[in-house]
Amino acid sequence: MVLEGARVVLRPVHPRDLLKIMEWDRDTEVTRYIGKKFDTFETCEEWFSDALGDPLHRVLSIDTTDGRFIGNVELDHISRKNGTAELVIVIGERDYWDKGFGTEAIMLTLSFAFARIHLSRVYLRVYTSNRRAIRCYEKCGFHKEGILRPSPRLVGRDGPVILMSVDADGYVERLAQAAVDLTARSRYIG
Ligand SMILES: CC(C)(COP(=O)(O)OP(=O)(O)OC[C@H]1O[C@@H](n2cnc3c(N)ncnc32)[C@H](O)[C@@H]1OP(=O)(O)O)[C@@H](O)C(=O)NCCC(=O)NCCS
Repeated sequence: MVLEGARVVLRPVHPRDLLKIMEWDRDTEVTRYIGKKFDTFETCEEWFSDALGDPLHRVLSIDTTDGRFIGNVELDHISRKNGTAELVIVIGERDYWDKGFGTEAIMLTLSFAFARIHLSRVYLRVYTSNRRAIRCYEKCGFHKEGILRPSPRLVGRDGPVILMSVDADGYVERLAQAAVDLTARSRYIG
């Protein structure tokens, strides 16, 4: 499955991606709010093969349209019964932060979640201190649902976690708004 947007392409994760994924996992700026995921290359390979074999977990790689691999986006805990899934995203190439790539990758993922696999709601968890991610999620139509207090083991690290979600209606509304934003921007530039 490949999803093409204006500036990013989402495609299935491939074994050749793993070295890059490991490199991002070693970058403490990238993992500041998500934690380090892999101790060794073998644990990264295990994550890859588990994801491939798990129908409730879709992992996609994010490429720019000119072919640079910049991150991954996941739909995890997919429940067709409840119509829900959890979204996880990492743009590992820091040069690509704050340029709208995360927003576009998420909007494409939501189109897959709502239009292709017919979910009703996508949720995510984010540290209250991760302002960039929160802003990105709000741009995609996510709303704050509530606050989870930090686990007693994590108190003093990154603070509480916000639970955010978007429903299919919110996504469609945001998509229409994005078209307006683009029109406004092109008018401004033009
Ligand atoms: C979070 C992440 C996915 C966002 O992707 P991105 O491509 O950088 O996001 P976008 O450019 O689409 O949007 C970021 C927005 O946050 C804004 N922003 C950046 N730093 C900010 C801050 N400290 N406070 C408030 N807003 C901030 C940007 O200006 C931009 O908003 P704008 O378009 O209105 O100007 C990406 O930065 C990333 O992977 N970070 C590391 C891993 C991570 O934190 N993952 C999420 C875990 S919940």
